[in-house]
Amino acid sequence: MAREFKNMTPKEIVEELDKYIIGQDSAKRSVAVALRNRYRRSLVPEEIRDEITPKNILMMGPTGVGKTEIARRLAKLMDAPFIKIEATKFTEVGYVGRDVESIIRDLMEASMRVTKQKHMDEKYEVAKDIAEEKIIEAIIPGRNKNNQGVRNPFSALVGGGQATYNQTNEKIETPEEDSEVLLARDQVRQQLKDGFLEDQYIEIDVIEQPKDNSLDVNGGGTIQIGSIFGNMLPPKTKKRKVKVSEARKILIEQEAQKLIDMDQVQSEALENCEQNGIVFLDEIDKIANSGNYHGGVDVSREGVQRDILPIVEGSVVNTKYGPVKTDHILFIGAGAFSVAKPTDLIPELQGRFPIRVELESLTKDDFKRILLEPHNALTKQHAALMETEGVKVSFTDDAIEEIASMASIMNEQTENIGARRLHTIMEKLFEEISFNLPDPEIKDVVIDAEYVRGKFDEVIRQDDIEKYIL
Ligand SMILES: Nc1ncnc2c1ncn2[C@@H]1O[C@H](COP(=O)(O)OP(=O)(O)OP(=O)(O)O)[C@@H](O)[C@H]1O
Ligand SMILES: [Mg+2]
Repeated sequence: MAREFKNMTPKEIVEELDKYIIGQDSAKRSVAVALRNRYRRSLVPEEIRDEITPKNILMMGPTGVGKTEIARRLAKLMDAPFIKIEATKFTEVGYVGRDVESIIRDLMEASMRVTKQKHMDEKYEVAKDIAEEKIIEAIIPGRNKNNQGVRNPFSALVGGGQATYNQTNEKIETPEEDSEVLLARDQVRQQLKDGFLEDQYIEIDVIEQPKDNSLDVNGGGTIQIGSIFGNMLPPKTKKRKVKVSEARKILIEQEAQKLIDMDQVQSEALENCEQNGIVFLDEIDKIANSGNYHGGVDVSREGVQRDILPIVEGSVVNTKYGPVKTDHILFIGAGAFSVAKPTDLIPELQGRFPIRVELESLTKDDFKRILLEPHNALTKQHAALMETEGVKVSFTDDAIEEIASMASIMNEQTENIGARRLHTIMEKLFEEISFNLPDPEIKDVVIDAEYVRGKFDEVIRQDDIEKYIL
């Protein structure tokens, strides 16, 4: 992405979301404004800054209209710490399940990831040079290694200089051999540059990722076993034989990692989490206590809401990287609220989500656009999949029309599952083609209205019958 997400204007954020989500303008606008306000806040004088708390958002709307999809797109766009979690995952402290403070611990992990990546990005240029030298050394080891009798599998590749180098294994060392090694390395350097050695195997030292040895203690604290020894011992390495192309990737990551200052990353990540963190609390309606909502255990639902309160309101949560203040973290709640209503949430929690946005039901025209316009539109996805089998799939306009109207009819006649209906229809449309490919006989497939109707005659009729029986 050309620009940092943080600095994007509300209009630009909406434009980005428009590439994937059709309609739902008011939801997009609210989210965009909330995000821009965080940026604005970071610019105001410090005395006022602390007073400005984020205005949390509650997104409401029927199932399958884009609530989670908006969050998913934001997460991809974002260079701010972001997590999306289902409110139903949590239980009141003391019950089996996750306690709500783990939300903040997860957000802090996300913050570590983005902050570390930002630091790594700054080091890649240098790391690339170091990695290239390491690859060259692996191909033409220095004198010491020669004396230990390490066989060089590349002797044939390197040509003239290498012949002399091979002799060093037997001969007594002289200064000339040193320069032979340097010469050979220069040749290898050139060959690497020309891309001749990418598929050759070399042996490199790979740092073994230490397992995360921390224990999450219920209630917030973490005990780190790994770090007690971790910082005292040099990292463990393992020899691995890999292709040059892969070795480069591994070594660049490793070297960049060595170049960053993890203490600095950690303190920046804490700040980043507190100031820019965003928590998307999905399915929040499922923890509301409506009188007529059945299914699931009721005992802890209100308890979860009470546990969430202090976190949304502002409190301190201990993480293994240090305490995180939650005052300025932005919370976006979302739920269908088909059975429970926002007023079924405990009043204190309702008050913490002052901005309400309604997402609208999708119309037949929306469906048509969803089929065609998003960058990841279903028609494009299916066409791409079939193309791997050498088949070009295209859709006529009246096919799109037919699919869209079928989706709205089915949503009306049976259950309204929003745009998810399009997924089920498309799966059915492609069921047979998918199964029959690859087939050298099949080259191009044109999907027209006739084809669509043919596939769904049965289904629709069956629904009609059901309707009449009922
Ligand atoms: N407005 C839209 N534009 C484009 N695609 C959409 C839109 N709404 C829904 N979709 C498609 O439908 C799928 C389901 O939507 P999503 O997950 O956002 O539903 P939801 O609103 O979160 O519903 P639920 O309340 O059931 O969680 C998405 O993966 C997406 O492909
Ligand atoms: Mg959802």
